[in-house]
Amino acid sequence: MRILAFETTCDETSAGVLENGKILSNVVFSQIKIHRRYKGVVPELASRAHAEKIALVLKKALSDAGIPVPLFRKKLIDAVVYARGPGLPGALLVGRTAAETAAKIFGSKLIGVNHLEGHLLAYEFEGGRIKRNLDFPLIALIVSGGHTELWRVRGYGRYEALGRTRDDAAGEAFDKVAKLLGLDYPGGPAVEKEAAKCRRYSVEFPRPCLKDTFDFSFSGLKTAVAYYLRDKSQVAGRRSQVTRYKIQDKEISEICASFQEAVVDTLVFKALAAVEKFRTRRLIIGGGVAANSRLREKFAQAAVSRAIPVGFAEKEYCTDNAAMIALCGYRRLLTGKKFLNAVDVDSELKIENWK
Ligand SMILES: Nc1ncnc2c1ncn2[C@@H]1O[C@H](COP(=O)(O)OP(=O)(O)OP(=O)(O)O)[C@@H](O)[C@H]1O
Ligand SMILES: [Mg+2]
Repeated sequence: MRILAFETTCDETSAGVLENGKILSNVVFSQIKIHRRYKGVVPELASRAHAEKIALVLKKALSDAGIPVPLFRKKLIDAVVYARGPGLPGALLVGRTAAETAAKIFGSKLIGVNHLEGHLLAYEFEGGRIKRNLDFPLIALIVSGGHTELWRVRGYGRYEALGRTRDDAAGEAFDKVAKLLGLDYPGGPAVEKEAAKCRRYSVEFPRPCLKDTFDFSFSGLKTAVAYYLRDKSQVAGRRSQVTRYKIQDKEISEICASFQEAVVDTLVFKALAAVEKFRTRRLIIGGGVAANSRLREKFAQAAVSRAIPVGFAEKEYCTDNAAMIALCGYRRLLTGKKFLNAVDVDSELKIENWK
């Protein structure tokens, strides 16, 4: 079964081909350079960049996969899959239009899937193919730029929501704290890089663990960083963009390490509590923030000490990519369940059970 997939939910334009579980191509054009000067994604610029790049990205994805261009031959592709949400409405429409066009050209099915389901299933990839066993029932933690969610998963398409963030997502908190500190965009890798320079977690930021719920809340933690910077007004050195106070380089590293530690501790605490409560076989973690090395290290440590198997999506498949979207379509097609052929984009799309 050969699947062509498109991912355009936010600031990566991606197309790829998956053949019987093997990734033949996975081309990702990142818009980081476009949004960097604004320290955040500008929706209108994102849509325009998707529209400009999608044809080139598709062409490369097909040629990397050894599929001849021009494409006017039927039966080269069995299904065209695209991420129909959640995401930026204009960006989603570009992916949908490209997918619809490709499906017409190839005479194949058109399937819209959930982007977050892609982050969840991406754990299955290893060495460029589907290799890892999901070993249901499991707990899945999705930690990305716009979402922080815990799911109990009993099988493909069998989901139960346990908790989600009530305000900022973990990735969003990384991005906002980076901005406060005058660091680069995207904030997650920038904060991680600074944090790696320091192994002291000297600043005591709160671990935002709401009681009796698996929900998260990260906006208070971000505000704690802002207050900390405000109170440090006398120190000379680098200038923070928002507070207008000056911060030393060394102190930036300490703040980053302490903030990152607080985010990671919170995620570890909640996710492992869910595994223990529901006695599941495994915890899997996906989404952009799952690329964070300290997060991987602390989850791995906790996993060993509490004998809970924890697995991460490979770093390449943590951030947005078309291979994980193809995987969603592939899994769904294998179940033999029917797809709605003409489902439209939905910027607020939630993960739902497969009907
Ligand atoms: N090494 C890292 N450490 C921490 N955060 C990271 C790291 N790498 C990426 N991120 C964060 O991950 C986010 C991007 O991940 P992803 O591409 O999955 O999010 P998105 O697609 O924008 O949002 P969503 O998937 O929720 O729709 C950004 O917030 C970024 O700062
Ligand atoms: Mg994403």
